[in-house]
Amino acid sequence: MAPQHGINTQQFIKQITARFEMACLHFGHGTDNAWDEACWLLETLLKRHGATEIGAELPVPQSCLEEANAIVQARITTRKPLAYLLGEAWFCGLAFHVNEHVLVPRSPIAELIANEFQPMIKEAPKRILDLCTGSGCIGIACAMAFPDSQVVLSDISEDALEIARRNIERYGLGDRVAAVRSDLFEEINGRFDLVVTNPPYVGETEYESLPEEFFREPALGLLTGHDGLDIPLRILKQCRRYLEDTGWLVLEVGNSDEALANACIELPLIWLDFEQGGSGVCAISAADL
Ligand SMILES: C[S@@+](CC[C@H](N)C(=O)[O-])C[C@H]1O[C@@H](n2cnc3c(N)ncnc32)[C@H](O)[C@@H]1O
Repeated sequence: MAPQHGINTQQFIKQITARFEMACLHFGHGTDNAWDEACWLLETLLKRHGATEIGAELPVPQSCLEEANAIVQARITTRKPLAYLLGEAWFCGLAFHVNEHVLVPRSPIAELIANEFQPMIKEAPKRILDLCTGSGCIGIACAMAFPDSQVVLSDISEDALEIARRNIERYGLGDRVAAVRSDLFEEINGRFDLVVTNPPYVGETEYESLPEEFFREPALGLLTGHDGLDIPLRILKQCRRYLEDTGWLVLEVGNSDEALANACIELPLIWLDFEQGGSGVCAISAADL
C-alpha cells in the first residue's frame, strides 16, 4: 500500500517499514533493519524538501510522500540498496556521494578511524594511502580525522575515482587528498605511515550465495578469486615497501578472515575487535610485514 495523504512522520515510517518487511528485502548496506531504512529515507527526503526539524507528529508534505513512494517501489522491485536510490550514504558521520560504480560504504574500519587507530598508531599519520578506495569514504574520513595528513585514494576503476573526486570536492579537501588510478600499488609513489584498505575479498562460492542487493554493486569491488584471497594476498606481499619503518597496514577481509589466517600463519596479523559490530579486519606493523 502506498503512503496515504495527510500522514505524519511516525505513521509514514510504520507504513514504509511494513512494506519493506513484506518484500523480504535484505538489509546490510547502511542499515540492518527495515525501520532504520525507513527513517533514513524519510529524513533524507524531508531535508531535501526543506524541513528544518523532524518530529514524530509532523505532517509529511505531499511532494515528499510521492517521491518516497517511487523510491520504495524501486527498492522493492529492483533490490537496489537504498543508498543508490538516494545517491548518498553515510560513513563515519559523513555523507558521501555514491552510485552503482562504487560499493555502498559500510566498513567497520569507520570505528577505527573514529578512535584514531588507537592503540596501534602512536603519532598522527602524516601520509595515508586508502588502497581500493571506491567512493573514497575511508581515506576522506581519515583526512578529516587527521587534519595535517596528506592522503592518496587509489582504485583500479576510473568510474569509482570519479565519485571519489566528487567526495574530495564535497569536503573541500583538494589541497591534501589526491585520487590516483592504480592496479594496487602499481602507480603509487613514496612511503606511507598508514595504508588502510577494504579491498575485494569475496570468494566465488560466497559470492553466489549473496542476497540480490549485492549483485547491484560492482562485482569488481567484491569478487577476487575462488577463495577471496587473491587481492588480499597481493596486498600483503607488496605493501612493505610502501610503508615507513614505523608504519601500519590495516586490511579488511570480512568472512575470508579464517582463510587468510590459515594462508599466512607465519605473519603475526592482529585481528581487531569492534564495539559497534563487524569483524574480519586485521592490522600488521611494517616491522612484522
Ligand atoms: C570492497 S570495495 C571498497 C570500497 C571502499 N574502500 C569502501 O570501503 O566502501 C573494493 C574496491 O577495490 C577496487 N579494486 C578492485 N580491484 C582492484 C585492484 N586490482 N587495484 C585497485 N583497486 C581495485 C574496486 O574497484 C572497489 O572500488
